Amino acid sequence: MSELNAIVDAAQTAFAQAATPADLENAKALFLGKAGRITELMKGMGALSVDEKKSRGAAINQAKQAIEAALNGRRQALADAQLELQLKAEALDVSLPGRKRGLGSLHPVSLSMERIEQIFASMGFDVADGPEIENDWYNFGALNFPEDHPARAMHDTFYVEGGYLLRTHTSSVQIRTMEQQAAPIRIICPGRVYRCDSDQTHSPMFHQVEGLVIAKDASFAELKGLIVQFLQVFFEKELKVRFRPSYFPFTEPSAEVDIMDERGRWLEVLGCGMVHPNVLTSCGIDPHEYKGFAFGLGVERFAMLRYDVNDLRLFFQNDVRFLKQFA
Ligand code: FA5
Ligand code: MG
Repeated sequence: MSELNAIVDAAQTAFAQAATPADLENAKALFLGKAGRITELMKGMGALSVDEKKSRGAAINQAKQAIEAALNGRRQALADAQLELQLKAEALDVSLPGRKRGLGSLHPVSLSMERIEQIFASMGFDVADGPEIENDWYNFGALNFPEDHPARAMHDTFYVEGGYLLRTHTSSVQIRTMEQQAAPIRIICPGRVYRCDSDQTHSPMFHQVEGLVIAKDASFAELKGLIVQFLQVFFEKELKVRFRPSYFPFTEPSAEVDIMDERGRWLEVLGCGMVHPNVLTSCGIDPHEYKGFAFGLGVERFAMLRYDVNDLRLFFQNDVRFLKQFA
């Protein structure tokens, strides 16, 4: 009996010392495995009498059960400790403040573009679209720019392969629209345009919104009234505005509009005029029946004035500290 008790004690000690499940399995083998001490004792019973077998067998079984109980207890303890560790490692401190998600916002040029489109939509204009890669005809020829006319040089055009160019203004869409739609016409065309230009008020890519009205009674007075009204709605305040006589091959008469900025400087924001009869004719519209007026405004310039930004190039540097201010 004392031998069995000693084995049970030894097993309990070995199990208690097993620090990992693998250690524990090794310790188990020493007692319950094929060559384990309990198994050896069972084997040794062959020589005993029937009565002795009975009492000895019962005693060994009891010891075996005690060892199994110790083993299971230790298994459970190791599993609990393992779980405890894992829970600690994966613990979340739910009292920590949440991480704020930085919400993006629309770019000031997009905001201005949307605003311009909304105002003209409320004035009954449809939106037309055209390609940014154009041919000479739509960007210049049909707009009454004669070959070799110096007005072409004014545009600092980016030419691309195959006789194409990046449109220098949205006036190309006037032509495409007049070719496709019958008069009367009342459209705006918002889009990107390109010129080899860069300084405080110029960038190589910028946005224009073209406007075109073809109607039997279109007049310069109506054009001027429309522009003045648009400027009031867009800026929501009275600004100093001047119409300055100007020249475009595709309009006659022509004007440019300047607005005074917060520092008292005039900033040109758009060009406009009555559509030249040559342009109407080359688009199949009879200039004796229909008149037209058109304008083309620079969206970045409007954004500069509305948000008091003094360098147009800031719009394209994508500095988050700048962009955040428009959220
Ligand atoms: C034109 O582009 C004419 N197509 C406008 C027009 C349309 C006249 C219809 C008559 C009838 P202009 O080159 O002036 O004109 O450009 C128009 C506007 O675009 C300018 O007033 C200015 O606001 C803006 N702009 C011109 N160049 C740049 C540039 N490099 N960067 C930013 N804005 C520019
Ligand atoms: Mg100009």
